Amino acid sequence: PTRVFSGIQPSGGLTLGNYLGALKRFAEMQKDGVETIYCVVDMHAITVWQDPAKLRQQTREIAAAFLAAGVDPARSILFNQSQVTAHAELAWIFNCVARMGWMNRMTQWKDKAGKNAEAASLGLFAYPALMAADILAYRATHVPVGEDQKQHVELTRDIAIKFNNDFGVNFFPVTEPVIEGVATRVMSLRDGTKKMSKSDPSDQSRINMTDDADTITQKIRKAKTDPEPLPDSIEGLKERPEARNLVNIYAALSRSTPEAVVAEFAGAQFGAFKPKLAELAVSVMAPISDEMNRLMADPAEIDRILGDGADRAEALARPVLDEVHDIVGMIRSR
Ligand code: TYM
Repeated sequence: PTRVFSGIQPSGGLTLGNYLGALKRFAEMQKDGVETIYCVVDMHAITVWQDPAKLRQQTREIAAAFLAAGVDPARSILFNQSQVTAHAELAWIFNCVARMGWMNRMTQWKDKAGKNAEAASLGLFAYPALMAADILAYRATHVPVGEDQKQHVELTRDIAIKFNNDFGVNFFPVTEPVIEGVATRVMSLRDGTKKMSKSDPSDQSRINMTDDADTITQKIRKAKTDPEPLPDSIEGLKERPEARNLVNIYAALSRSTPEAVVAEFAGAQFGAFKPKLAELAVSVMAPISDEMNRLMADPAEIDRILGDGADRAEALARPVLDEVHDIVGMIRSR
């Protein structure tokens, strides 16, 4: 039996990287025989300060993005994390299973805490244990994520293995990360060696899911490239990170492969390729951002979908937590 879980933080707007690396693949994983559970992780978001009104707004916006990208509440469970208390309960138990040294080795922790770890929240340090709880509260077998989350899913596996060993049980599955396709690491439009990110200070570095057609076109036109034309094979993209990134984005948006894109545009200048890419990006992203806007006009309906998803998520997670409490030796007498 296959059970898929994944999550997105409501800590800002979404980028083309989130769409191609996560949302698009979440929608594609909805198939008969696969249970898909998707979560807006508001508890993760507050590991760094969030304005309460903005958090509420962004939670709804991320939910709208899931729906607009094709996550269907009739086939998937879609909810926000804080409505299902099993996540917090299991996270505490995992805080007691995981080791400080494991957390210290997380590259996202090192990046986000920076030089001043003393001033970071305790929640930011424990972030990966909550993520393991998200996944394992459902005993999920597969977790689709972008490349940047690989280390966290590996830590989830370590936590599952240590829990099973510590208590002499074979209870939690050893979850597989699913990092597939050409868009697992969409790079910045300004620097092909840096990830496209909502936290990059330059808005020119990314395409936001809410950018309009003119903005998308303008950002692609100004995207950094080198002076060479497109090569005639993907071998020719080595050492050309910006060129490779644009080819990968084109391939992901057109559901094609980098090989096919390079074959089609061999010898073309970027001056000719970029307008084609912009046209393609607008044709894929505009209907999604229109649908997001339509959904956002009815926040009560979004909240209803999240509430319904939370009920269904709770029904799956509660029996798992009951067993966990029993395994750990915690009395439940009411
Ligand atoms: P988050 O909110 O930073 O990102 C959400 C998803 O988008 C992917 N992603 C990218 N993919 C390709 N190229 C990019 N430039 C790019 N930027 C982001 C991320 O890899 C991710 O899949 N810790 C997670 C949220 C989380 C989670 C979970 C995920 C919490 N609990 C349980 C899976 C399972 C995060 O911060 O993702």
